[in-house]
Amino acid sequence: MMRILGIETSCDETAAAVVALDDAGAPQILSNVVFSQIEEHTAFGGVVPEIAARAHVEALDGIIEAALSEAGVELSQVDGIAATAGPGLIGGLIVGLMTAKAMAAASGKPLLPVNHLEGHALTARLTDDVAFPYLLLLVSGGHTQVILVRGVGDYQRWASTIDDALGEAFDKTAKLLGLPYPGGPNVERQAALGDAKRFAFPRPLRGEDRLDFSFSGLKTAVRQTASAIAPLSDTDIADICAGFQRAITETLAERVGRSLEKFRTLYPQVERPALVVAGGVAANKAIRATLDELCPRHEMRLVAPPIALCTDNAAMIAWAGIERMRAGLESADAQSFAPRSRW
Ligand code: KG4
Ligand code: ZN
Repeated sequence: MMRILGIETSCDETAAAVVALDDAGAPQILSNVVFSQIEEHTAFGGVVPEIAARAHVEALDGIIEAALSEAGVELSQVDGIAATAGPGLIGGLIVGLMTAKAMAAASGKPLLPVNHLEGHALTARLTDDVAFPYLLLLVSGGHTQVILVRGVGDYQRWASTIDDALGEAFDKTAKLLGLPYPGGPNVERQAALGDAKRFAFPRPLRGEDRLDFSFSGLKTAVRQTASAIAPLSDTDIADICAGFQRAITETLAERVGRSLEKFRTLYPQVERPALVVAGGVAANKAIRATLDELCPRHEMRLVAPPIALCTDNAAMIAWAGIERMRAGLESADAQSFAPRSRW
């Protein structure tokens, strides 16, 4: 039995969790506590780094205590402490990693600095039976990437956005239309009420051989459309959201399809080949439906972890710690590991 405490503070969630691996190799989430700071940032229409860092300082100790007590374990009973060391907002990273370092030093437990993206990348192996290699589509407020996951610590980025992240495109579109932060869920709600055919928005990079994404042109098209017909009625807003979301799903299907094709060409022998989707935007039902339809066309399956584990959380960090530890990837000088805002 192995038990790891995980800490996540890279953006606007303060989170701690305990994940266990039993002797048969089966993982179990013993606790997963997430404190979202959304309310503290809503008035500003986005995450304010200064406010986030201070909120992490205030919340973290209590969140860690709650995670340990919910799991029914004491610090002395965990086998290691994993903390997000980057990428993310530097203030939050410092708070989380320094806390983990202090706890590790005081308890004599190993410290495992974890890359936040590795946490997202490995979550599917916590919730589903997914073997290496597989493809990861990470779509969040800060990232839009396709990553080939060959093993623990063995990643190859195939595609990323050349401008806005997908969640950012949702958030900016929402802001343009006067919908509250965070924009994604609100745009999705409006899109369900609108007519996707009323406005023709672009499909960026369509037909290009490269695997990358681009979303800023779409946002610009939304801005131009909105200002041309302002003041916007409720129907206008719903129709714009529907057209925007349709453009997104069609763009994703075309762009991600190319990565799936490449994966199948490179790894024709892999059994039950999987596309894993992670990140907050994976909560979008239209996007999930699009991927659900796309994967079988490439004889692949879609693995979508539960939404609570797709968005930022500490169970994924604890799990990445377990994966690193059992792969023998612990580093001897973890205590001198500096947080990296870009990584
Ligand atoms: O992974 P996440 O919780 O945080 C990071 O960015 O790391 O993702 C948050 C992003 C935000 O941009 C939010 O608007 C977007 O995910 N999002 C959605 C939906 N729910 C959250 N975007 C589209 N549709 C949704 N239902
Ligand atoms: Zn994230």
